[in-house]
Amino acid sequence: MKAVTWQGPRKVSVDTVPDPFIQQPNDAIIEVTSTAICGSDLHLYEVLGPFMTPGDIVGHEPMGRVVEAGASSNLRPGDRVVIPFQIACGDCYFCAQGLQTQCETTQVKEQGSGAPLFGYSQLYGSVPGGQAQYLRVPHADYGPIKVGDELPDHRYLFLSDVLPTAWQAVAYAQRSPGDSVAVLGLGPIGQFAARIAKHQGLTVYAIDPVQERREMAARHGILVYDNTDSTVNAIREATQGRGPDAVIDAVGMEAHGDPQSAFAKFAQRTVQFLPDKLGQPVMDKAGLDRLGALYTGIDLVRRGGTLSLSGVYGGQASPLPMLSLFDKQLQVTMGQANVKRWVDDLLPLVEDPRDPLGVDDFVTHRLPLEQAPAAYEMFQKKTDGCIKVVLEPQQLP
Ligand SMILES: NC(=O)c1ccc[n+]([C@@H]2O[C@H](COP(=O)([O-])OP(=O)(O)OC[C@H]3O[C@@H](n4cnc5c(N)ncnc54)[C@H](O)[C@@H]3O)[C@@H](O)[C@H]2O)c1
Ligand SMILES: [Zn+2]
Ligand SMILES: [Zn+2]
Repeated sequence: MKAVTWQGPRKVSVDTVPDPFIQQPNDAIIEVTSTAICGSDLHLYEVLGPFMTPGDIVGHEPMGRVVEAGASSNLRPGDRVVIPFQIACGDCYFCAQGLQTQCETTQVKEQGSGAPLFGYSQLYGSVPGGQAQYLRVPHADYGPIKVGDELPDHRYLFLSDVLPTAWQAVAYAQRSPGDSVAVLGLGPIGQFAARIAKHQGLTVYAIDPVQERREMAARHGILVYDNTDSTVNAIREATQGRGPDAVIDAVGMEAHGDPQSAFAKFAQRTVQFLPDKLGQPVMDKAGLDRLGALYTGIDLVRRGGTLSLSGVYGGQASPLPMLSLFDKQLQVTMGQANVKRWVDDLLPLVEDPRDPLGVDDFVTHRLPLEQAPAAYEMFQKKTDGCIKVVLEPQQLP
């Protein structure tokens, strides 16, 4: 079969690889009909590179049809399914409380990580990913979400990751209708986090440096701002000078640093509390610029508010402004989304003919699998108005 493989930093290719096969009675093999590229794939492209091996099949947002079903998989050939990005058992201590990303049965213990993820490096179990013609799905007795035949793929596809991630980001912000929230980043996750927050009755402010991304959010009633040094003040003024009740960080560790931004000034102010010998290397070397959005969030959120991180952060020594976190009495929540926990909330919304979350206005590019290398580059560089790419393995090159 054909599959998208990681070849090195900023390099993927489309190769012929062996077809997957059933290895356990609860496995299933699906023929992939749609498979999306995610902001998380860009971390593999860059900072998570050291945990990848050339030839690893990437991708974790697939859906398709079952072509082979293991005896205890609860599936049948022909079933149409969406595959959650994490692999969980469904009945351990953690799965029972909706923490499928921490599944005790499947945890990647050698790496000290939670549940394995499709196509997401050695840290998460080196499981072959879903940007391929076929995919082996372990624990298919629990993971796959069976869906109907009437609606097009794009209505269901984002149940694999983007929608539950955005839903969890809003849930973890712990707000009530009438509250305010600022969403940092209007990539795929931020788009839906903003729409879901609005759908739940919150006032939503959102920040992104990319114009088409702001335009898309504005079409869905979101108040949008460029990432400039006046933005934090503008949002503060709009919230009685206090800042929003919650901030959702949908940027993560690829944030664009700008030495003139409000973030940089806040970071400099924070670092000055460190002894000189420590402060300078922290700014210069420890990659504070990668934490741009996180610092903006800490600065912007009102005292006593919630900071909900859905953007992925890594690294062991990221400097955190503990003084500000403590003094402002913030609650910080975070983590990979527990997909199955939120599916019952989301399924009626994506199937609703009125399309309350605007799923029909989201995908900007549908391309054959063969065009993955160019698609990755376009998504990373945000050219051609690219916001979300869906690869279609059955589309001819
Ligand atoms: N928690 C989870 O389960 C989960 C699941 C999927 C994705 N993610 C993470 O969510 C994040 C976003 O993913 P995505 O698919 O939307 O990717 P993306 O890279 O397209 O989105 C990031 C957006 O942030 C904007 N941005 C960059 N720096 C900024 C700044 N300083 N202030 C405001 N905006 C800024 C970019 O212009 C871009 O639009 C990534 O870190 C990804 O790994 C987490
Ligand atoms: Zn994803
Ligand atoms: Zn489990």
